[in-house]
Amino acid sequence: MAASAMIIRLAQDHAAALQTLRREALTLHPSAFSADPDLEEKLTLDDWRKRIESAAWFGGLVDGELMAMAALTVEPSKKLRHTGHLASMYVRQNYRGTGLADKLIERILEHAADHFEQVMLTVEAGNSRAIGLYERHGFRPIGGIPRSILVDGKYFDEVMMLLALPRKS
Ligand SMILES: CC(C)(COP(=O)(O)OP(=O)(O)OC[C@H]1O[C@@H](n2cnc3c(N)ncnc32)[C@H](O)[C@@H]1OP(=O)(O)O)[C@@H](O)C(=O)NCCC(=O)NCCS
Repeated sequence: MAASAMIIRLAQDHAAALQTLRREALTLHPSAFSADPDLEEKLTLDDWRKRIESAAWFGGLVDGELMAMAALTVEPSKKLRHTGHLASMYVRQNYRGTGLADKLIERILEHAADHFEQVMLTVEAGNSRAIGLYERHGFRPIGGIPRSILVDGKYFDEVMMLLALPRKS
């Protein structure tokens, strides 16, 4: 990881940088994210500030610039609150293969260990780079969702992955 890189929990004043990074991620990798880019384009900066507050967003900063992001979300039902959902994992092209993605996941799992009993995610079945990253951090495939994502008339399957966290006594 670049010496000047650091992982931080994002706050409301990162809304503009996060919006830009998300726009880039959804544009360059449409099958890697289930979010609808047209709907996201309608979100205002204020919406992004609320989004940042409604989940735990983490970012990888290099020289103060946001180069990577990921979020841990949770369903509101108290029956589901023991599971965190890892989403929106993205590292800018120039910083791939540098260890920034590892650092981001490590930080997220640190946070998850304090709040959840397990972490789930879904990843496009052909995204071997992302799957390799998640496996390296202990996630295991637990099932698949055929034809989960539809982009421009083409279907993509997804794999669900789970990491069980040690239960706090
Ligand atoms: C998925 C994603 C976040 C993974 O990040 P990444 O930096 O590409 O992946 P890794 O950290 O696993 O690194 C990949 C390569 O760098 C190597 N690497 C990792 N850490 C390294 C380090 N500290 N120094 C040198 N090389 C390193 C890995 O060994 C791997 O090499 P390989 O491809 O030859 O096997 C990134 O590729 C990405 O943003 N992709 C587009 C969006 C996406 O698919 N998101 C996932 C949605 S579920």
